[in-house]
Amino acid sequence: MLVLGLESTCDETACAIVRDGREIISETISSQIDLHAEYGGVVPELACRRHIDVIIPVLDETLSKASLSLSDIDLFAVAQGPGLIGALLIGINAAKALSLALNKPLVGVNHIEAHLYAALMSQNEPISFPCLGVVLSGGHTSLFLMQDFNTYTIIGQTVDDAVGEAFDKVAKILDLPYPGGPHIEALARQGNPSAYAFRSGQIKGRPLDFSFSGLKTAVLYAVRGKEALTASDKHNISASFQHAAFSDIINKTLLAAKQYDCRTLLFGGGVTNNQHLRTMFTSAAPELKLLWPSCGLSLDNAAMIAGLGYYNYLKKGFCGDSLNMEAFTR
Ligand code: KG4
Ligand code: ZN
Repeated sequence: MLVLGLESTCDETACAIVRDGREIISETISSQIDLHAEYGGVVPELACRRHIDVIIPVLDETLSKASLSLSDIDLFAVAQGPGLIGALLIGINAAKALSLALNKPLVGVNHIEAHLYAALMSQNEPISFPCLGVVLSGGHTSLFLMQDFNTYTIIGQTVDDAVGEAFDKVAKILDLPYPGGPHIEALARQGNPSAYAFRSGQIKGRPLDFSFSGLKTAVLYAVRGKEALTASDKHNISASFQHAAFSDIINKTLLAAKQYDCRTLLFGGGVTNNQHLRTMFTSAAPELKLLWPSCGLSLDNAAMIAGLGYYNYLKKGFCGDSLNMEAFTR
């Protein structure tokens, strides 16, 4: 079964064709990083306008790389949310138009669930539920107790900034380009993780919830105390910040795995691209099965949307009138 997926939740316009939920036939990702870089974050109105400009070229390019035409597609899948409302509407309306014109079914997919499905797409063997889903992205830091992809409970989440958002804000404080995650990771390689005594927040009575806004403020104060930042200051601040954020994520994730007796952990979201995070997790939990998305599938992409669309379609079938599908922002 050939599924064409569309993704437009935030600042990537992406399209992919995936066979039977796993095999990526072709994919195209048009990133808007250049557009938002000077603002240090995503400007929603600019994002929507760019999605409109590129969605059809991105669709055409994906079909042409696969040497397929629209009539070869069996099912359309689109990211229904969460995300920016205007951005979501572009992808959803494009998908509705395709479904209507070609008389093929359309399914809506949850972007966050799709980030976790990306880890499954990168494995050869099936996974055994229940498992713990760990989403670390620019918008979310959440722990999911999963019975299946559509059946789960959120057992921990951030009460303020998402971890990727904290990386982006710290990068801005250090005068690094947006998005900051990869730049902090690179600088941290040359820094001392114990140079600064940074700590992530703890929420009284909620041991599985996260807080990163105090950590970000601690970095701001550390920088304010200095006249000018040397290269070595930037290395040490990056390494200490990254270490504080990741130690906290690992502690809470392993606590959750123990508490809910999960032996398999599924990871998703842009921050899971960080190799230092993967190394820290692997050495902290050698006894657990850690399933990471392959690098191309960590960041926002449409292959994960097509993949989960296929999975949901097989599980639940085609549910009703997809032309009435609405975007959900949260
Ligand atoms: O999942 P994603 O592409 O978009 C959202 O759905 O949010 O995640 C983007 C986030 C950004 O905050 C970015 O700084 C962060 O992922 N990120 C990283 C790395 N690569 C991307 N954070 C830490 N280390 C990285 N290597
Ligand atoms: Zn995402």
